[in-house]
Amino acid sequence: MEEAKKNTGIYAADFVKHGMTIGIGTGTTVYWLILELGKRIKQGLNIIAVPTSKETARLANEAGISLLDLNAVDRLSLTIDGADEIDPKGNMIKGGGGALLQEKIVAAASDELIIIADHFKLVPYLGKFPLPVEVIPFGYKQVQKKIIDSGFCEKLWLRKKNDEIFITDHHHYILDCECEKINDPVTLNSTLHLIPGVVETGLFINMANKSVIGLEDGKIEIIKYK
Ligand code: 5RP
Repeated sequence: MEEAKKNTGIYAADFVKHGMTIGIGTGTTVYWLILELGKRIKQGLNIIAVPTSKETARLANEAGISLLDLNAVDRLSLTIDGADEIDPKGNMIKGGGGALLQEKIVAAASDELIIIADHFKLVPYLGKFPLPVEVIPFGYKQVQKKIIDSGFCEKLWLRKKNDEIFITDHHHYILDCECEKINDPVTLNSTLHLIPGVVETGLFINMANKSVIGLEDGKIEIIKYK
């Protein structure tokens, strides 16, 4: 699995051209992209990047990638990011690493979104992976109740890390929601957004242009959505 992630991360670096301002996602697959871009920068590639998390900013800094705040940029040519699940239409669940809010903002500011993932992330429908929902800490238990009342998800829990509540880069909590099979991601996304206290959902609908998938045999499959 790690090999497939590495292959796709390295392969996707080819989409990054000299002079581009790009968004860089978060996660263990993007880690390989960052390392590869770092190598190419040493060989003369000139790019600027907007990171999607503090962790990505740290890694990109180490790799020698120049970073910019999203507010200093009009549009991004391209964002490359990972995913937790990808359905046949390219709709995704993201946020396993807790960076969904910034990832969605950066993706929405990009002319193109390329997803890099190993083949295990391809699913016939979304929902086996618990859907992350970023919420305001104040009154989050009210949000929990409303998500359960919506009937879309059977079970949910507050994300913890090392027995402490997980706090996002933007000082929010994450509710991981077990929805099992998401038949209608668009309606689920809108329903969740109508709950006061919900900041963002991990449903990325109709955002990806293509996926670069690392296969078991070391090959790469490219799936285009638009
Ligand atoms: C972080 C994300 C990641 O893109 C997603 O969790 C995939 O990560 P990985 O490449 O480590 O499997 O959405 O918020």
